[in-house]
Amino acid sequence: MISIKSEREIKLMREAGILNYLTHEEIKKHLKVGMKTKELDKIAYNFIIAHNAKPSFLNYEGYPASICVSINDEVVHGIPGNRIIKDGDIVSIDVGVELHGYHSDAARTYIMGNVKEEVKNLVVNTEKALYEGLSKIKEGAKIGDISEAIESYAHKHGLSVVEELVGHGVGTNIHEDPDVPNYGKKGTGITLKAGMVIAVEPMLNLGERYVYMHDDDWTISTDDELPSAHFEHTVVVTKEGYKILTGEKCDGEE
Ligand code: MF3
Ligand code: CO
Repeated sequence: MISIKSEREIKLMREAGILNYLTHEEIKKHLKVGMKTKELDKIAYNFIIAHNAKPSFLNYEGYPASICVSINDEVVHGIPGNRIIKDGDIVSIDVGVELHGYHSDAARTYIMGNVKEEVKNLVVNTEKALYEGLSKIKEGAKIGDISEAIESYAHKHGLSVVEELVGHGVGTNIHEDPDVPNYGKKGTGITLKAGMVIAVEPMLNLGERYVYMHDDDWTISTDDELPSAHFEHTVVVTKEGYKILTGEKCDGEE
């Protein structure tokens, strides 16, 4: 079932989204070569709790941390631990925040120091692919319009699309209907309506699209061990387009 959020609910989800944005900013402030990924998890946990909110991912289906930190060939769901961030790494950080009973979901990938040109391009183009997908959103458009825009942008830039994981609806649950795949055909899938809230999250690979799950039952990595990048925003569909809920607070916004 796909829920349509009321104006009141959108307002609450925007508050959860702003806190998600601020958590990312807090992580960015501390993110440095030489630190352990579990230090970032602690920073995020403390920040979210201090704002009377909850980390959405903690204990979600048994997930043992507040954020996901996925490095290089790790695509998503890397569990923070003793791994040390190195110069030349790309680091994907995924944050979920629950406030007033509503969730928000957003991810970014950071370039740490001296990263090869082709890997930098992977990161830059994955973020651009997210915005290509978002640009198709408005009432009356189809989910497949988003999917095709992301896939064609990725392929145009020589990148492959992970198919095993998809974007999703967001609301009182972190994962709701509908699925939002990063591959597909325009004009197909469900029709978007104003008030639907979805997380769009391309995961693009420098090499082939194939991935596997680690023995920890969470971390997903590329089969060919080439790097992967991930960007995600939670957005609400409007009559004219969309509004990013996990973006920076604008001037004049209450
Ligand atoms: N943002 C992630 C996603 O949509 C959520 C991580 S799920 C968790 O897939 F279990 F790792 F928390
Ligand atoms: Co998500």
